[in-house]
Amino acid sequence: MACLPLALGNTRRHQLYYGLIYAVFPGPQRGLNFLERIMPIASFTPPVRTLMGPGPSDIHPRVLAALSKPTLGHLDPAFIGMMDEMKTLLQYAFQTKNEMTMPVSAPGSAGMECCFANLVEPGDTVIVCKNGVFGMRMLENVERCGGKAVVVEDEWGSPASPDKVADALKANPDAKIVAFVHAETATGARSDAQALTKLAHDHGALVIVDAVTSLGGIELKVDEWGIDAIYSGSQKCLSCTPGLSPVSFSAAAQDKIKNRKTKVQSWFLDQTLVMGYWAEAGAKRAYHHTAPINALYGLHEALVLLQDEGLENSWKRHALNHQALKAGLEAMGLELPVDPACRLPQLNVVKIPDGIDDGAVRTALLQEYSLEIGAGLGAGAGKVWRIGLMGHASSKKNVILCLTALDSVLTRMGAPIKSSVGAQAALAMYS
Ligand SMILES: Cc1ncc(COP(=O)(O)O)c(C=O)c1O
Repeated sequence: MACLPLALGNTRRHQLYYGLIYAVFPGPQRGLNFLERIMPIASFTPPVRTLMGPGPSDIHPRVLAALSKPTLGHLDPAFIGMMDEMKTLLQYAFQTKNEMTMPVSAPGSAGMECCFANLVEPGDTVIVCKNGVFGMRMLENVERCGGKAVVVEDEWGSPASPDKVADALKANPDAKIVAFVHAETATGARSDAQALTKLAHDHGALVIVDAVTSLGGIELKVDEWGIDAIYSGSQKCLSCTPGLSPVSFSAAAQDKIKNRKTKVQSWFLDQTLVMGYWAEAGAKRAYHHTAPINALYGLHEALVLLQDEGLENSWKRHALNHQALKAGLEAMGLELPVDPACRLPQLNVVKIPDGIDDGAVRTALLQEYSLEIGAGLGAGAGKVWRIGLMGHASSKKNVILCLTALDSVLTRMGAPIKSSVGAQAALAMYS
C-alpha cells in the first residue's frame, strides 16, 4: 500500500497529488473516495432572470432554440449557404454593401482588436476619443499595435466633442485614423458618429467605430455616414448570446489593409486570412478556424428577427420603451443625469438616491424579482445604476417590472422617492 502513490502517478506532480490524498483520507481506497466526493456534479440549471443590465440582455427564445439545432461541419454546403445569408443579414443591420462584413468568432473586444490590428501599423498616428471605459480600451489597442495615440478626452457622460476632434486633426495632419465609441455603455452617452466621420474624412483619415451597444438599438448607417471600420457585439441590442462580434470594413479600409508594410500581428484576426473562409458567395472557401457553428445559428436567427421587425421599427421600439422608463423613473423622483440630447435609449443611467446602498438594492432586485440591473462602471461605480433596455429585453413588460420592483425595494429601504406612481406614468406613454 505504501507504494500506491508511486504506482498511480507517472510524473512528480501526480506523485505529490496522490501522496496528499493518501495522507489526508484514511481507508483502503483513499484516492477513489476523494474523487467520489467531488465527481457527482449535476447538470447546470441556471435561474431564469430578466436581464436589464448593460449586457448580456435577454435572449430571444427563437435564438435559444436555434442554438440547439444539429451541428454541421464548417465547410458543409448547407452551412456555407447560411454564412452567405448571415453576411446579407449583417449588411442590412449595418446598412452597408461592404463585402468584408462578417462576425468575428469571439466577443466584442475581439471585434475591437480585429479593427485595430488590421488598420493600425506601427508608427501610425491615431486619434482616440476617450469619454468612458471603452474609449480607454481602444487606446490600449492603439498602443499595443505600435500606433502613436493622440487622446481627445471628454468627461464621462458627455459625447466625444467634434470641436476637440477637429483641433486634434489640425494639430496632427499625419493622423491616419480617428477612433470613437458610438454608444458608450459605461456612461449611457451617444457620440455623433456621422459628424465625427465627416471630420475625419475631411482630413484624409479613416474611422474605427465601436457599435457594440448601438447596433440594432439606435440609428446607424455605415455607408451613408461613410464609416470605414466598425465592430459590434451579439449580446446587446441583437438579442443573441454573447461571444460573437459582427464587423464591417469599407473599400478604403480594405485598401489600407492590402497595402500594409507589416504583417497583422495577430494571425487569428488577420482579415486577409479570415476572408479565405468568409469569402463572397460562390467563391471557394478554405478552413481558417473551426467556426462556432451553433453560436452562428443563434446570430442568424437574431438577425432574421431584426429583419422581420425592420431596423427602423427596432430603433423606434428602443426609443419608446426608453421614454416610458424615463417617465416612470422621473415620476418617482429619480434622476437621469445624461443630457437628453445624447442619452442612449438602450442604456439608462440613473442616479442612486442619497443614502441608498447600491449593492443592497441590486441584490434585493435579483433575489426578490430575479431582475438584473447594472452597477455603475469606473467613475460611476456606487453613484449610478445602468438599466439596459436592449434587444428582446426592450419591452413594455420589462419597463413595468423594473419600475414596480425598484419602487417596492426603494420604498422599503426608505429612499426619498414618490411611491406607486412609476408604473402608471410609464403606461401612459404607451397609450
Ligand atoms: C461599448 C462596448 N465596447 C466593447 C465591449 C466589449 O465587448 P465584449 O464584452 O463582448 O468583449 C463592450 C461590452 O460591454 C461595450 O459595451
